[in-house]
Amino acid sequence: MISRRSFIAKSSFAVAGVGLAKSGISMSSLPQKKEFPIVISTWNHGLPANEAAWEVLKKGGSALDAVETGVRVPEGDPNIITVGYGGIPDAAGHVTLDACIMDEKGRAGSVTYLEHIKHPISVARLVMEKTPHVMLSGKGALEFALDQGFKKENLLTKERKAAWKKWKKEQREFSAKINIENETELNHDTIGMLAIDKEGNLSGACTTSGMGYKLPGRVGDSPIIGAGLFVDGDVGGAVATGMGELVMKTLGTFLVVEFMRNGMAPAKACEEAVKRIASKIPDYQNFQIGYIALNKAGEYGSFCINPGFNFAIKTEDKTEMEDAEAWLKKL
Ligand code: GLY
Repeated sequence: MISRRSFIAKSSFAVAGVGLAKSGISMSSLPQKKEFPIVISTWNHGLPANEAAWEVLKKGGSALDAVETGVRVPEGDPNIITVGYGGIPDAAGHVTLDACIMDEKGRAGSVTYLEHIKHPISVARLVMEKTPHVMLSGKGALEFALDQGFKKENLLTKERKAAWKKWKKEQREFSAKINIENETELNHDTIGMLAIDKEGNLSGACTTSGMGYKLPGRVGDSPIIGAGLFVDGDVGGAVATGMGELVMKTLGTFLVVEFMRNGMAPAKACEEAVKRIASKIPDYQNFQIGYIALNKAGEYGSFCINPGFNFAIKTEDKTEMEDAEAWLKKL
């Protein structure tokens, strides 16, 4: 069992320069100081997203506002090619976005296969707040967003268009790669975020452009309540990243929250949900899934299939990345 932890200066978002110190023990498997507010989120792009969420939380803002504000950072960043603007398109060259949001009251909103809108998480929030529905998809979601005043934009950047043209010319098949957050193509690493505010309320958000060069029409786990994200105000929340099909087949984040309801610590609950995938999906070794979870006491944890998944944590006292423990190292 090897895990790594890195401390990052509060003022620095410079991920590239961060050295990861080997401690040999996962911090999230140790008893944690329970503190609010707290925000955790997936991958390195979680660091600047957490900072934006923290600005909301430290002023006494709600967890719901914090997670929406936080994940809008990678959504708007063209250099994050797995989320929002600048995301890798589908096989037909269209950037199609999936997102959902959920709060401690069990309210939820989601958009799937949304084109031309830079911030799908904010549309998902309005689905939750302004409609009797949970999920809007495709053209209907776009029409709703435009009605709500969102601007129609081209989300396919010059760089992503060139890479897509090259991919098409080479007539390559889609193949899911493990831990490819920093590679330039075929990447599908979602941002998922969970936060608890000063009042102790918990919310979560999840947003992605999905698998690069996916079949047109493909929707992943990220906008599906109970798959990409689940929050129960009495228990806690969980979000998923990686190959969404594995999460959808096992209703992963709902499972994590149910394990926590039955008394498991967040890290153990994430591990059990990964083990469910391992027991049900024959070729699971070829894919990555990472779960992060936060219980209502403010304890957090993570687990993944293959080594290489990390997540960002922000509290009053710490700004850090932690590597998740991996099932394939435990075998
Ligand atoms: N987890 C993101 C996706 O599979 O679309």
